[in-house]
Amino acid sequence: MIELFPRQTRAFDILTEPEYSHVSELLYGGGAGGGKSALGCIWLVHQCLRYAGTRWVMGRNTLHTLKETTLNSFFLIAKLGNVRYRYVENKGIMFPNDSQILLKDLAYYPSDPEFDELGSLEITGAFVDECNQITEKAWNILSSRIRYRLDEYGLTPKILGTCNPARNWVFTRFYEPYREGRLEANRMFVQALVTDNPKISRYYVTQLDNLDEVSRERLKKGNWDFLDISGNWAYSYRPELHLGDVVLNRSEVVRLSFDFNRNPIACHVSQHYGNHYYGLEQIEIDNCTTYQLCNEIKARYPECFFMVTGDVSGKAATTVSRLNNFDVIKYVLGLREGQMQYSGANPPLAESRMLVNAMLERYPMTFDRVKCAPLIRDLEAVKSDNEGRPIKTNRKNIEERADCLDTFRYTLHRWFGDFVKLLFS
Ligand SMILES: Nc1ncnc2c1ncn2[C@@H]1O[C@H](COP(=O)(O)OP(=O)(O)O)[C@@H](O)[C@H]1O
Ligand SMILES: [Mg+2]
Repeated sequence: MIELFPRQTRAFDILTEPEYSHVSELLYGGGAGGGKSALGCIWLVHQCLRYAGTRWVMGRNTLHTLKETTLNSFFLIAKLGNVRYRYVENKGIMFPNDSQILLKDLAYYPSDPEFDELGSLEITGAFVDECNQITEKAWNILSSRIRYRLDEYGLTPKILGTCNPARNWVFTRFYEPYREGRLEANRMFVQALVTDNPKISRYYVTQLDNLDEVSRERLKKGNWDFLDISGNWAYSYRPELHLGDVVLNRSEVVRLSFDFNRNPIACHVSQHYGNHYYGLEQIEIDNCTTYQLCNEIKARYPECFFMVTGDVSGKAATTVSRLNNFDVIKYVLGLREGQMQYSGANPPLAESRMLVNAMLERYPMTFDRVKCAPLIRDLEAVKSDNEGRPIKTNRKNIEERADCLDTFRYTLHRWFGDFVKLLFS
């Protein structure tokens, strides 16, 4: 059986009790590990079982993350509660009483700017996990579709959004008016932090403590004001802490991380041993092929043992041959399959920002002040948009290229992802 803890109970009451029938939008959250995904799943299961033949949406920015995170919370909750259901891959969850939960990708796609696909739905209610990652328009359209079998069951429309502190429409729609006591009557906000969750594991709290100060304020303390997040993307970078003279250690693995733009092509060279990260060199060359770059690396790092990661769109075949970029690297450097460590998808940019800054602040890292110059330039110059993504719309402007920063991000995600991993569920 599942027992809700007090903050979850409060939110659950708002979602289900008649005295709150005037509330149509609830925002729950304020920190990581506050039981947000669990609450949403519990509410949906409860409603589906109680009201036969109803139809609900479980949504998140992309279906891909929904499946990797929220849906897993659902499976866990269903198991704890001994719930019978049938899962249809990529579509939804069906219950024996004909209720269903549809899984929806709520991201903005230029091919469907008006969210026509959502616009044709008829649903009984909706749960949007990490709703700060979708647009307000998607939220509005989804809310406007809540009507299916409401009257029959005496229900009123409800949409539940969960999120961590963010500086976008969620802030102006919910948090700011809530704090100033002028939240509209049909909206409510319930703050929940990891400290409100008695079921949380020790390990999870350790991960929160591993974060950089800005992220810790936001995700552990649920502080919405600490950070005006547009600003330097790598806000934890400190030249006086992070720069030094780094020497190659031939008896340790040399890690290579590639970005395959032709102009420039970039590679971040690093080592990690004795609990210290060493940025050896940031290579950035204009008008250069992967083949030429690898020959250059072979010359600069003779007889070294390499591990390779990089931009996974580099798996697409190059125009010159049927070999993709990673095949070329493997072939020219004479590597075995186990040394090729790139994975399925590039890391999401906003998550990257947290990992990179947490590592910069909390982990011993030194970059060679001369040979890492192009990376240092990116760390100092690249700005963030208000969603935590590096601004790179204008490739002619050197501050907006960020290719070197990308190679560094790939390195941290590939080999240090566990540093803050749990926080993204
Ligand atoms: N009511 C509950 N009973 C048991 N475990 C819970 C409950 N609420 C949350 N949890 C557990 O606490 C952890 C964090 O919850 P989660 O919903 O993933 O948090 P968030 O989405 O806010 O980051 C998960 O391991 C989840 O299974
Ligand atoms: Mg969650």
